[in-house]
Amino acid sequence: MKNLLKMLKEKPALYEASPVNMWDDPHISKQMLAAHLDEGFDSATRKMDFVRESAGWIASLLPPERYRRLLDLGCGPGIYAELFCHKGYEVTGVDISRRSIGFARESAGQKGLAIQYCRKDYTASGLGGCYDLITLIYCDFGVLARDTRMTLLARIYDSLAPEGALLFDVFKPVRYSGMEETRDWKVEENGFWHEKQYLLLHSFWRYDEDNTFLNQYVVGMEDGTAYYNIWEHTFTFEELERDLRKAGFGRIQFYGNVAGKKCEDADDTICVLAMK
Ligand SMILES: C[S@@+](CC[C@H](N)C(=O)[O-])C[C@H]1O[C@@H](n2cnc3c(N)ncnc32)[C@H](O)[C@@H]1O
Repeated sequence: MKNLLKMLKEKPALYEASPVNMWDDPHISKQMLAAHLDEGFDSATRKMDFVRESAGWIASLLPPERYRRLLDLGCGPGIYAELFCHKGYEVTGVDISRRSIGFARESAGQKGLAIQYCRKDYTASGLGGCYDLITLIYCDFGVLARDTRMTLLARIYDSLAPEGALLFDVFKPVRYSGMEETRDWKVEENGFWHEKQYLLLHSFWRYDEDNTFLNQYVVGMEDGTAYYNIWEHTFTFEELERDLRKAGFGRIQFYGNVAGKKCEDADDTICVLAMK
């Protein structure tokens, strides 16, 4: 209780990590998989109509005839990976969630799709392989602390073939403009965070000096407390350009989203295409 009070009183240090990885928790990953497979909502995966449009745009911009070997980082249950495979890429999907990778493997097997899946934390070690195209879709780059982002960019660069391409998306600061810091609580039963009854304390913190935001979920259960810090660093074009150049990338192009929209001030995402 003392620790809980201390934790709730103090603003977490920038990029303080959660003690456990929520993506691979047995209960949370079940909810997450259901969210991925819900085609009508932008939740763990974006709406299916958008995902189809997005995969179509990627295949027209970076055709499989030229960018054959594709690595999809954070592939979840393989929704993009299967579309990419149908387009003609030789696809490898990597994800930290046992449940998602299990589902993806089974789905590919049932459909006769030759996709390689690997359960792995892409922040933990080198990515290996040699790819023509690496994708990281749905703003997962921004959840990482700066050092981890720079290390990941370097590892992606190392795993790209000469003139290979990296395509990813990030949120812009405008996504959080005008949002005040908040704290609220509720009691849930068999909800997103735990199967039994629990108290959920949610805090939203701003770190404007770093264009970074935190949603912290503290879950009070019968037999203990868990907490999850979900960070979101948001990006300017200048920061992306600087970090990608530092990692060695050459030509860089920006789009408003991962379906090739033209950039506009009101967009809350930036899609980045960076060439080795
Ligand atoms: C927001 S979902 C996006 C999934 C997919 N890119 C899509 O658009 O459908 C993020 C995915 O990244 C995975 N993930 C998060 N952190 C990861 C890490 N460090 N290494 C590997 N996978 C990770 C999660 O398990 C989840 O499947």
